[in-house]
Amino acid sequence: MTGIIGAMDVEVEAIKSAMRDEEVKIISEIPFFKGIIHGNNVVLARCGIGKVNAAVCAQIMISVFGVDEIINTGVAGAVAHGIKQNDIVVAENFVQHDVDTSPIGDPIGFVSTINKIYFEADKNIAARLKSAIGDKARSVAGTIATGDQFVADKRITSRLRELFNASACDMEGGAIAHVCTLAGVPFGAVRCISDSADENAVMDYPEFAAKAAATCSATVLEYIRNL
Ligand code: ADE
Repeated sequence: MTGIIGAMDVEVEAIKSAMRDEEVKIISEIPFFKGIIHGNNVVLARCGIGKVNAAVCAQIMISVFGVDEIINTGVAGAVAHGIKQNDIVVAENFVQHDVDTSPIGDPIGFVSTINKIYFEADKNIAARLKSAIGDKARSVAGTIATGDQFVADKRITSRLRELFNASACDMEGGAIAHVCTLAGVPFGAVRCISDSADENAVMDYPEFAAKAAATCSATVLEYIRNL
């Protein structure tokens, strides 16, 4: 079974519409929609915004629904130069840019005990997500920087480029990657750019988020069709 996680209704509704034999279960206030899409068993969840919501959701998908893989879908802010609205970033890996134990000597983003900064996405899933994009959008493969912060400041995007060579930023992917790494469950992510994570982001986000979310959902549906 494939688990699909989006943070907001707009990021999951088109995928939910394609589902047959849907059953809804609410656990920890997160709705999980279990059903069949293009003949494949899927559980889809709207986790809510932020790392804790995403982590709780990913762990429930693994422990309760027994998913074999998790795909994260949704919108993102652009971080790398040259990435524009409606481009898709397929995650090669994730960092959590708000993890900071640097005062005690660690590099920023370093997750103690697991002792790593970058959480690798499954290469096979990433390749199949990339081919599912087709001509829906321009795409790049890269690092997605996650934090409990809507980034709307070009000094912060510069920092994410300098520290992590990030392509995009979001608020959930790194937490899902962290949970999946602990549990040994393969994961991947497609994130479509809604804004430039700079001072214009607050204006651009409401205007472009729905279109970007729809582009990602279409990609995920194509990925499921090809399973
Ligand atoms: N998701 C979409 N745009 C974002 C931004 N600017 N910062 C964090 N997450 C986002």
